[in-house]
Amino acid sequence: MVTTLHTQTNTTVRLARRPSGMPEDNDWSIADEPVERPDPGEVLVETLYVSVDPAMRAWVSGAQTYRAPVNPGDIMPAAAAGRVIESRDAALEVGDLVTGDLGVQRYAVRPARVLERITAPVDALPEHLGVLGIAGITAYIGLHDIGRLKPGDTLVVSGAAGAVGSAAGQIARAFGARVIGIAGGEEKCRYVVDDLGFDACLDHRDPELASALSAAAPKGIDVYFDNVGGDVLEAALDNLARGARIILCGAVSQYNSERMAGPSNYMELLIKRASMTGFVVFDHRDRFDQARAELSALLSRGELRADLHIRQGLHQFPTALRDLFTGTNRGKVLLKTTTNNADRAENGATR
Ligand SMILES: NC(=O)c1ccc[n+]([C@@H]2O[C@H](COP(=O)([O-])OP(=O)(O)OC[C@H]3O[C@@H](n4cnc5c(N)ncnc54)[C@H](OP(=O)(O)O)[C@@H]3O)[C@@H](O)[C@H]2O)c1
Repeated sequence: MVTTLHTQTNTTVRLARRPSGMPEDNDWSIADEPVERPDPGEVLVETLYVSVDPAMRAWVSGAQTYRAPVNPGDIMPAAAAGRVIESRDAALEVGDLVTGDLGVQRYAVRPARVLERITAPVDALPEHLGVLGIAGITAYIGLHDIGRLKPGDTLVVSGAAGAVGSAAGQIARAFGARVIGIAGGEEKCRYVVDDLGFDACLDHRDPELASALSAAAPKGIDVYFDNVGGDVLEAALDNLARGARIILCGAVSQYNSERMAGPSNYMELLIKRASMTGFVVFDHRDRFDQARAELSALLSRGELRADLHIRQGLHQFPTALRDLFTGTNRGKVLLKTTTNNADRAENGATR
């Protein structure tokens, strides 16, 4: 057995109690615990980056989602990337970089078979948790497999400055669609048009959002990529083209609510012969390689920009999660587990 473990202490972030409304710092407990050691078939991984995702709020609510609920006392699950520092399985060697559900903690023991080896430099790990990870792949599969996007379609994307939405809009534009983003505030909308290259962007705080959408998409919306639900979904339903497809990806505006509000105008689906399809990206694993290959090609041609919003240190987990609900982020929200002075200076900044 080879190991490069230099400490016996693991920092863990456990759910302390179920949040009510916007998550608070005290909803999690952060502690130092002994590092577990791997059994045969397992590896010990040092976590370097942790993905922070809106769905985490639903996992801790106690409600049934597409995965088992997280209970008080559990280590917070999370997709993460790290380095193998002890291996008891021939498939992975010390020094290998991997991604998988490592949880919000500094060290994780996992079976080698549930981890994916990343053959890229360590600097590329954030990208593998973002645009080449679940966020980018969700955007790709949502548009092509669920939304059946065609060149020339008018696509509307909510959460347009976020990880999934920014990728969806840029992929669609490169594919030949006309793309209208929806984001929070004038400044974010400028970013969506000027930096991400969308054709237009509307502010979801505008009380006249439905009229603004009607002006921006006078022939109606062919495909709506819904990341936020709520009032924005209602405004989109009011502006569908005949035969429209709605990609039900998520409902960020509802995750902090006790009871999710559905759209009162859902009969627009009938009137416009439209469909609304929910999907969970993990059901489409057979499409991941193709999605990654096409996302990599877009990145290398400079047609896809993937900004990162990185907070430093595991203790920042509750803040990073709130960033998603206050709209503080542009692009993918990550936690970097280690900190240094240069990192502290850019804490929470977009890069
Ligand atoms: N179906 C799947 O398999 C799958 C997989 C991954 C992710 N998802 C879903 O994809 C969506 C986007 O995830 P992400 O990781 O890319 O997050 P994100 O878009 O990077 O961050 C969330 C964004 O939501 C917006 N927002 C927050 N509260 C809002 C509200 N009340 N009304 C309108 N917008 C609001 C904020 O932007 P503004 O400043 O613009 O408001 C914020 O930046 C989520 O719904 C997530 O659950 C689904």
